[in-house]
Amino acid sequence: MEKPYVFITRKLPEQLIEPLKEIAHVEMWDHEEEPVPHELLVEKAKKATALLTMLSDKVDESIMGKAAHLKVIANLAVGYDNIRIEEATRRGISVCNTPDVLSDTTADLTFGLLMAAARRLTEAAEYVKNGEWKGWSPYLLAGRDIHHKTIGIVGMGNIGRAVAKRATGFEMEILYHNRSRHLEAEKELGAVYCSFDELITKADYIVCLTPLTNETKHLFDEAAFKKMKQSAIFVNASRGAVVDEEALIQALKEGQIAGAGLDVFTREPIDPQHPLLSLANVVALPHIGSASIETRTEMIELCVDNILRSLKQQKPKTIINKEVLPQYC
Ligand code: DGY
Repeated sequence: MEKPYVFITRKLPEQLIEPLKEIAHVEMWDHEEEPVPHELLVEKAKKATALLTMLSDKVDESIMGKAAHLKVIANLAVGYDNIRIEEATRRGISVCNTPDVLSDTTADLTFGLLMAAARRLTEAAEYVKNGEWKGWSPYLLAGRDIHHKTIGIVGMGNIGRAVAKRATGFEMEILYHNRSRHLEAEKELGAVYCSFDELITKADYIVCLTPLTNETKHLFDEAAFKKMKQSAIFVNASRGAVVDEEALIQALKEGQIAGAGLDVFTREPIDPQHPLLSLANVVALPHIGSASIETRTEMIELCVDNILRSLKQQKPKTIINKEVLPQYC
């Protein structure tokens, strides 16, 4: 019998995909940073039983409609807004993501971004490297305290909880907003549930970790930024489109808020000429939330495992559209 065909949309370490090669014919896009062109992905998907995709690949009807043999899509991310889940479910295609293995790493980065924005770390580092440092001065690059302030976490999933845990080390007051209450975080970390409006009004640090959905698109709009404290710092480690970037630029320029730490943008990679990048009170990172060597390795291993299970008719470990599970043993 012919081996199933698996297409991987980015260059990954050969040794990590070795287990797949034992039972499948595996092909990989040969670039580390450049995404696979859409037309090529459509072509590859036509013969694929499994796709291992990146969060930057749009997987919609134009791909699934032509992928007659496609059984599983393993997305190398916890977020899956790049995949049309309803379409996959309708076609009986399993969609898997990589939750849990990246929670602590992403929380580390999120908290680091908060600290960098609060204490102006990137600005200060550039200042030294550019030879601008002439002498010590009382308010030279003075930032804002983090300890004993209030953090407001929007989206209390596993990453949110891990950020809250880090905030306890700084003796912060923790507010959170989520679709449902997180009683464990309330009990163990002292997190206090509140409405979105209350959170953005009271918090010194507003941390966005909510997934991008139709409901959360542009959740942080002009009205939201106007309700924040002028000393507030906004941190986004979720998806760019949860924020109305025009409104954020206005809020930062007009001093409605004090600063922002952004790991994600509406369009990635962000245009180097984008107005957000010209603002001194913005710390911008290239979507590296889960980017530690250990965690990225675990994420790839999980994707490979989900594909292997699927090809062997076994339930994948981390499936999003559980409606398709009855097809497995
Ligand atoms: C994800 O996996 O969805 C995150 O954006 C990682 O950085």
